[in-house]
Amino acid sequence: MATDKVRFGVIGTGGMGSGHCEMIPKIPETALTAVCDVNPKAREEITAKYGVPAFATHNELLDSGLVDAVVIATPHYFHPTIALEAFKRQIHVLSEKPLAVTVSSADAMIAGAKASGCKFGVMYQMRSEPQNIAARKVVESGVLGEIYRTSLVMGWYRSQAYYNSGGWRATWAGEGGGVLINQAPHYLDLFSWLGGLPKTITGQTRTRLHDIEVEDEAFASLEYANGAHGYLYASTMEMPNHNLLEVCGDKGKLVLDNGKLRVYNLDTPIREFTETNDSMWGSPKSNETPVDLPADLPIKGHGAITQNFARSILYGDSLISPGDDGLNAVELINGLILSGKTGKTVSVPVDRAEYDRLIEELKAGSRTKAAVAEQRVTDPNFK
Ligand SMILES: NC(=O)c1ccc[n+]([C@@H]2O[C@H](COP(=O)([O-])OP(=O)(O)OC[C@H]3O[C@@H](n4cnc5c(N)ncnc54)[C@H](O)[C@@H]3O)[C@@H](O)[C@H]2O)c1
Repeated sequence: MATDKVRFGVIGTGGMGSGHCEMIPKIPETALTAVCDVNPKAREEITAKYGVPAFATHNELLDSGLVDAVVIATPHYFHPTIALEAFKRQIHVLSEKPLAVTVSSADAMIAGAKASGCKFGVMYQMRSEPQNIAARKVVESGVLGEIYRTSLVMGWYRSQAYYNSGGWRATWAGEGGGVLINQAPHYLDLFSWLGGLPKTITGQTRTRLHDIEVEDEAFASLEYANGAHGYLYASTMEMPNHNLLEVCGDKGKLVLDNGKLRVYNLDTPIREFTETNDSMWGSPKSNETPVDLPADLPIKGHGAITQNFARSILYGDSLISPGDDGLNAVELINGLILSGKTGKTVSVPVDRAEYDRLIEELKAGSRTKAAVAEQRVTDPNFK
């Protein structure tokens, strides 16, 4: 390995992967040295643009000797298989989100990374945003006190043309879920990073608006080990996009409203006030506490995670978004889908064998899409 640059291969050069190809050469610690895509046209385009070899299979790329690390940007089902092949060859892995479709395959990735000693990251770029770093510090400091309630409302929009843009999208066989597995992982990661994982999930999933076989709406009530409750909602049928995340405790409250962080503290903790106050309309006084946000990183978003990942290989920097943490969002996704499909309350950690059985059944009933107008276009919000 060159000492100052990590040689990266990008596997899957569609919408997201071509964004990675564009970004990697701009980061001082990374070089794009090879790509792989099963689609010949995608390979031709990338080779023409970046002049790097393009392989038709991930194993050819992994065996080429051209890469120290890979970014996996294929449809989600392939993330674990490709990661395990990379780890076998001592190649570091930065996986796109979600880590995997099932908790059992996410477990396998984590075990593979551990056995190899390689670096393992997951692309949760929101972890690099100043307000989210500050929010995590607030939670870690304990100023919120015992947590009583959490909530996450993530209302986004996706067009039918988006769902029609790839045969794999929004199918059980090709994607393994809908809004929960594709759009929600970023916020599910943030939600579990700030509020922890619940011990049970009771939810429903529905296909409300789009002509797809997977859910475009999901909602659940959550119960945490300390008795706290949570509410979770995600959909792709709402405009303007709105993201609201709350963590409410005995001593204060944290609100992330469309990326704006507000933190409130109380002059008296709620439990103490409730036990000691004798005035009928009394309530603890709440004050908004100013929070110092860290400076923006020089390279933001996906680039920040990729740069940090390369620096962890080169200089041992700690990972902003470790691969192991990627399991949490998969627990929430699988738990909610399992609860929705069975009508039961599901325990976390999700029963691996039960979810594997469910996903195999869903895959077996999956329909090939009638209307696919393929588009591989990078999200214009890509940073
Ligand atoms: N972090 C983010 O903000 C973000 C945003 C968008 C997508 N993603 C993730 O990136 C991944 C890809 O999504 P996309 O929107 O780019 O999809 P896409 O369909 O645009 O691209 C996927 C590409 O992978 C190729 N491919 C399929 N199977 C392959 C295999 N086995 N080996 C090599 N190449 C293969 C396809 O030919 C295609 O070019 C998904 O997991 C998605 O969740 C992450």
